[in-house]
Formats: sequence, structure tokens, C-alpha cells
Amino acid sequence: MSKLLITWWTWFIWSHAVVELLQAWHQVVILDNLSNSVQEVTEAIFTITWIHPLFEYADIRDIQQVETIFTKHVFDGVIHFAWLKSVKESCDKPFSYYENNILGTINLLRCLDTYNVRNIIFSSSATVYDASSEDAPFEEQMKTGNTTNPYGTTKFIIEQVLKDMAQWRQMNITCLRYFNPIWAHPSGLIWEDPHDVPTNLLPIMMEVLEGKREKLFVFWDDYNTMDWSCIRDFIHVVDVAQAHKIAWENLAKWFNIYNIWTGKGTSVLEMISLVEEVTWEVFPYEIVSRRDGDVSISIAKVARIKKAIGREAQLSITSAIKDALIFRANIYN
Ligand code: UD1
Repeated sequence: MSKLLITWWTWFIWSHAVVELLQAWHQVVILDNLSNSVQEVTEAIFTITWIHPLFEYADIRDIQQVETIFTKHVFDGVIHFAWLKSVKESCDKPFSYYENNILGTINLLRCLDTYNVRNIIFSSSATVYDASSEDAPFEEQMKTGNTTNPYGTTKFIIEQVLKDMAQWRQMNITCLRYFNPIWAHPSGLIWEDPHDVPTNLLPIMMEVLEGKREKLFVFWDDYNTMDWSCIRDFIHVVDVAQAHKIAWENLAKWFNIYNIWTGKGTSVLEMISLVEEVTWEVFPYEIVSRRDGDVSISIAKVARIKKAIGREAQLSITSAIKDALIFRANIYN
């Protein structure tokens, strides 16, 4: 059993990962400034696990607030999720992204170093792969950088910083590069920030099913794919959460990067068909022109993580769609 600091902000994967960690009897302390999430999530986590995760209020941009938490607890490691993650928002408010994602991470690293906590799991993203590359599937050693938005830049920069930390401060660091995690926990009880206007595909599709939007606009540019729509490596968020637990329990020395994780591509039009199969309804959509920054194909190569942890992603996209429907029904009924 280990004692872990979990930093959160808007991203929904942390709550699922906390469930997996608590169920494996790890102790968890959550750090958040609640600027874009709600403390009630910890109640939902309790309902699922029967364990209350400890919650500590702190703004990661303020090193004194972060340090206070290190004076109260002795940690074995940290799983760092405290990321702003909207591509569009990052173009509108780049400084918020630099302050939270870069300065916040540096503050955290200083505290880790000062209090001799050397083990880190870091939420990275497929967005770090060179966007000009049409070389999907992406392998971990492929070129990164050449990012198309400030969000991607922050992830890219912090990966470089962490590599230095492993080398010069003897930290053990695993970066997990997420592809396209999709909802939701099968309990229907834990959620992504409900106040955000969604920009990702599945949340928007859910809003169409609820009648909040008339239809889905499919961004299209005669992509070089079998049905001309973009292809993504969608992965069930519970698989992603389990990857954090397994990565923590198998944390190896110095610096490691893993893609997570299916290795299978699904096009946007195939996603629509899968939603139609689950709901037995015709799903309304319209083809529109492409969205800036979209790459045609983003799929992971998964050989490295398979070798490291001996496991493949286990849950299907159809189960993620069904779980997303349960979740939406729960919060709106
Ligand atoms: C983006 C980020 C990725 C991040 C992920 C989850 C980039 C380049 N990508 O992925 O790093 O992990 O969000 O936050 O930074 N689509 C439509 N209509 C819509 C919405 C989406 O057709 O209304 C299409 C998009 O063109 C894309 C696919 O659906 O082909 C998935 O889009 P989205 O869910 O936004 O994720 P990505 O842009 O792939």
C-alpha cells in the first residue's frame, strides 16, 4: 500500500483513477483549488469504494499552498492530473495554460524535490506527437513537438522538464500519453466537469441525444481514410484509470513513456454508427468543413506498454457509449 498525492483540475480521468487506487488499497490525498470541479465528486467516490479520499484545498500555481500539503503528509509519489486541457481555450487564454500547466508543475516538482518524493506518474497526451506527421500509428520514440496549440505546447515542454528531473534529480517518472479517453464509469456516479461547454466528440454526441443540440457537425476534409472522416484511438476511461494504477505499481527507474492504449482506430462516422447501434435511433449529423488543428489519423502503437505491464485495454467503445448513456441519465434525471 502506498500513499499518493493526486493533483486535479478539470480533467475527469483523476476521479476514475482514484477509484482504482482506493480499490487496490492505496491511500490517496487529493489536491485541488476547486476552480473547475466540485468536492462532491469525493462523495461519489465514497459511494463506489466505501473509502473517503482525503481532500486538501490548494492552488497549484501557489507554491506555498502546495508546500503546506507536503508539511502535513509523507507521500510515496504523485499522480499529476492538474491540467487545463481544452485545445480551443488554450488558444484564447494561453497564459492561463502556461501558468497552470507549466508553472503549476514546476511548483509541484520543487516540493517533490524538497520533500524527497521521487516517484511520479504524469498525464501526457498524444497531442505531443509532431502534428505535421502523417505517420500514425504513433510510437513512443517518434518525434514530438511542432505542436499546434498552447495546450499541446505545455504538455510537450513538461515532458522535456520531467526527462531532466529523472536525469538530474534522480526521479522515477512514467508519462502516460493518452489518446482519446471516452466516458464513463459504469456506476454512472463520477463525472467530468459538468459546467464546461463540451468540445470533444462523445460529450457533444450525448448532448445531441438529450436534445440539447440539434445535430453533430462532423468536421470533414476528405481525410485520407476509408470513409473520409478522421480516425481516433478512442479508449474507455476505466481502462485509462487502470493504466495509472498499474503504471504506479510497476513504476520503473528514471524516465519512461507509454501510449495508452488500444491500438485500434475508429472513424467519426463509425462512432456515429456505434451510437446508432446502442440507441436504436438514427443519429442526426451534418458534414461541415474541417476544424483547425485536427489531424486525420491518431492511433497509438501499444507494443511498449504491452511489454511493460503485460496487459491490453479491455473495454470496448460500445461499452463506453453505454456507460456514457447511464451517466447522462443519472445526472439529468
Ligand atoms: C483532442 C486533443 C487530445 C486530447 C483530446 C481529449 C489535440 C490535437 N487533440 O483530441 O490531445 O487528449 O482532445 O481532450 O490536441 N469531431 C467532430 N465534431 C465535433 C467534435 C469532434 O467531427 O463536434 C471530430 C474531430 O474532428 C476529431 C474527433 O471527432 O476527428 C475527435 O475529436 P475530439 O473528441 O475533440 O478529440 P481530438 O481533437 O482528437
